[in-house]
Parts: sequence; structure tokens; C-alpha cells
Amino acid sequence: MGKLRPREGTWLASSHTGRPCMPQSSLLLLLGVLLTCGLEGSAQGPGEWTLWGSWTHCSSSCGRGVSVRSRYCIRFPGEELCWGDSREYRLCQLSDCPPRAVPFRDLQCALYNGRPILGSQKTYQWVPFYGAPNQCDLNCLAEGHTFYHSFGRVLDGTPCSPGMEGLCVAGRCLSAGCDGLLGSDAREDHCGHCGGANDSCLFVQRVFRDTGAFAGYWNVTVIPEGARHLRVTHQSRNHLALMGIDGRYVLNGNWAVSPPGTYEVAGTRMVYTRAVSRPEETLHAAGPTSHDLHLQVFLQEPNPGIEFEFWLPRERYGPFQVQAQALGWSLRQPQPREVETLPPGPPTVPTATPPLTPTPSPDPCDPCPDTRGRAHRLLHYCGSDFVFRALVLGRRHQAQETCYEVRVQLVYKNRSPLRTLEYVWAPGLCPCPPLAPHREYLLAARRVVSPDGTQDRLLLPHSGYARPWSPAEDSRMRLAARHCPV
Ligand SMILES: *[C@@H]1O[C@H](CO)[C@@H](O)[C@H](O)[C@H]1NC(C)=O
Ligand SMILES: *[C@@H]1O[C@H](CO)[C@@H](O)[C@H](O)[C@H]1NC(C)=O
Repeated sequence: MGKLRPREGTWLASSHTGRPCMPQSSLLLLLGVLLTCGLEGSAQGPGEWTLWGSWTHCSSSCGRGVSVRSRYCIRFPGEELCWGDSREYRLCQLSDCPPRAVPFRDLQCALYNGRPILGSQKTYQWVPFYGAPNQCDLNCLAEGHTFYHSFGRVLDGTPCSPGMEGLCVAGRCLSAGCDGLLGSDAREDHCGHCGGANDSCLFVQRVFRDTGAFAGYWNVTVIPEGARHLRVTHQSRNHLALMGIDGRYVLNGNWAVSPPGTYEVAGTRMVYTRAVSRPEETLHAAGPTSHDLHLQVFLQEPNPGIEFEFWLPRERYGPFQVQAQALGWSLRQPQPREVETLPPGPPTVPTATPPLTPTPSPDPCDPCPDTRGRAHRLLHYCGSDFVFRALVLGRRHQAQETCYEVRVQLVYKNRSPLRTLEYVWAPGLCPCPPLAPHREYLLAARRVVSPDGTQDRLLLPHSGYARPWSPAEDSRMRLAARHCPV
């Protein structure tokens, strides 16, 4: 904005006399003194701009064109030119031109049809010529001849060349920044803000490393509404799958493989590629997505890792964390094991479970009842929700329970998906049978959901089935499987 300046030259001139700045009794005079004293130092500085005038009408009557606004530099003797431009051009976009409308440049060339040029009496029909060095000159080809002529600059708002984004303004080809101004270098940041610095959103970048204990669909992450610059890649024969909020698959759903290509999903174009020569898939979308999407993977071999990233509006990050936990990691318990790199932002929602810490060697416990035998095995195999081979990674006590962290190695039976890392709970501080860290077991566990639905756990019941794993135990278990009522 321009500042108002005193206009009387004489008044201004007095500021150059070196008059000392004295306090004055009259407020008006004081103001005048402050102004004039203030001017003394800047006498050699630049002038000042007037306010911008209003935008002109669009240069074209249809399609794209430019409109312009101007301002003027007010200078006093000794002042330099104002800094900056005296004109601003902005893109104006009117409704599309009718199909047979003559393009703007063609019109400008055609103005010279039948007119003598270059002092000769010969006349020509002129059409645009795009092979000349400056595309913002009105270069026109004489039809039926092999020469072109430059008739000066094209009019402002003429497209630089057909199908190109830029428009000619004052003889230069300019494209519009995201602020709509031609020649402006304002660009949208990754958060979708014009001229922003990526600071209104957070970058989510993770690797989903769950190897998957069985073939089928696994939840990888929710891609929240508003996500931008989504990228997903993995190198395996598995397939990425995408599900909308309505539970319907958009990609690779229902055990059928979709062709690579562009899919219109959640208000954005999702580009799905599959490499030909090696096992690799990618998903890309510019976003923003108009609603949540569920990213899954259809496993047919152990998952070597799925990298995904997107940019999320800050306010969506907290809910995303909660949702991600509810969906992916915590079908039973939150299992904090995903790799995450994030710029500083809101803290991640803490998981409900404190980290596993090695407990000191347990107090002497009473010996456990003997639970060997075929009947016992059959009973537990058939009555359990899960039977699996597991490596015990850690153990801790919480209230009156024991919690083991285990790595699921092989699944014999499951009523719902098991994740690679699971918590298995056992009643009491002296559970029977006891599981030792770093040992492998064959476990039969039940799924227990608390009445309020907030806790969903794997339970190893007292005197349940937990045998050190061995090939013999493995074949006994497979045999037991055949004897359960369906
Ligand atoms: C925003 O982030 C993207 C991706 O990292 C980067 O290419 C771009 O330069 C960033 N923009 C700004 C304004 O920092
Ligand atoms: C995966 O996500 C879907 C959609 O929210 C949900 O219905 C399903 O229970 C989830 N499956 C697993 C294994 O977490």
C-alpha cells in the first residue's frame, strides 16, 4: 500500500534546509516536522507507488486470456525509480471457446491478409508460424510461400503456442503461479497451500513390516481424507489392495488382480503400476483424497516391507494415529513396531501398553500339573481359536497377569488374523505352563474380548496347551487337526 505524502513542493523543500528538529507546540506542526525530518534521510531513496488500479476486462472473450492492473510511481526530485513492477497480469479463464472459433493468433495474422507489406505491392494470406525464435512475436507464414514475417509482438494474452500453458505478455511467454498472476513463481506446497512452506501439514512416512502369518488380505494403513502426494511401493509378488469407506474394493479386491492403470478414487487419480521384469508395485496419487481409503496388501508370500507416505493436514494427524491403531496394529493390543519418521509435530498417541521390560527371575512357583497326552492336545486344539508356533520374545507381569510378547512363526489354526508380533496373556504371576523367553512353543490360545469390547486378547488358559516346539510336536498337532469336529 502506498503512503500519502505531502504534495506541496515548498513544504517539502524546507526539509532540505537542514532545519533542526525542534519540539513544536502545535500538534499539526509537530506532525509536519516529523514528516519532514523523516524525509531527510530517505531523500535519495526510491519513490512510492500509488495503490493498484482495478483489473481490466479479460483480453479474450472466451477461453484463457489476461487482465492487467497498473500503478504509478510518485517520485520527488532526487528520488530513484520505484522498486517493483508497474503492471500486474493475471490469468482470466472464461468459458471454453466454441469449437470452430478462430484462434487468437490466427486472427492477428489474418489482419494482414491482402495488405501490401515491406513496401512491395504484393499481398499474401497469413497463417501463424511457430518455428521462429520468439514465440511471442507475431510470426506469420505467407500461405503458399516459404517465408514468414514478424509483425512485431502478439497481443497480450495470446497463447505462446497451441496446447501450451503460457501466455504472451509484453512479448514474453509467462505462465501463471498458483496465485493466478502471470510470471509469478508462487507454487503450491505439498500441503496444497499457494506459496506455503509445507508447514500446514505433516509428512507421514512408514514401512509396514508385518511379514504376515498366512495368505490373504492384511490391513496396512488407513489413508485419511485430505491426504496428498501419496506414494506406496513394495517389491514382492504380493498385491496392494485399496478399499473405499463403503467397504468396496477399488483395486485388487475379492481375490482378483486388477490391471495396472489409472483409477478414479476418492476424488483423485490413483495411478497403479506393476513392473514387468521384477516383482514390484507402486501406487501414486496427487490428492487430496475426498474420503478415507483403506490400504491393504494381499499376501501370497511373506511381506518384505511396504513403504508408504503421504502428506496430511495437521488436524487430521491425531485422528489418523488413533484410526491406524484401531485398524492395523491393534486388532488385539497396540503393537508399536512400525518405523516412522516424522517432522516435529503433535506427539504420537501413546500406546496403552507399557514397553516390555525383562522381569527379574520369577519367585519360585509351584509345579504345574502335567498336561501331556493326546486327549489334552485334542481338547485344546479343537477348543482353541488359535494354534500356532511362537517364539517368546519377552515377558512381563501386569496386575495379576503375565503377558508374553511372541513372534508368530507358523499358524496351524486361526479364527481371525494373527499378526507377526502378538501378546499372549496368561492368568496369574505363576502361569501354567510357564513360557521361557527365547524359546519356541506350540501354543493353543483363545480369543477373549472384554464385555465392554475395549480389550481383545489372546489368552493362554491355566493348564492350557503350551509345549516346546519340535518336529514331533508339529506332526502330533497336524494329526490332532484331523480329529476336530467341523
Ligand atoms: C515441500 O516438500 C517437497 C517434498 O519434500 C519439496 O520438494 C518442496 O521443495 C517443499 N516445498 C517447500 C516450499 O519447502
Ligand atoms: C481391516 O480393516 C477393515 C476395514 O476397516 C476391518 O473391517 C477389518 O476388520 C480389518 N482387518 C484386520 C485384520 O484388522
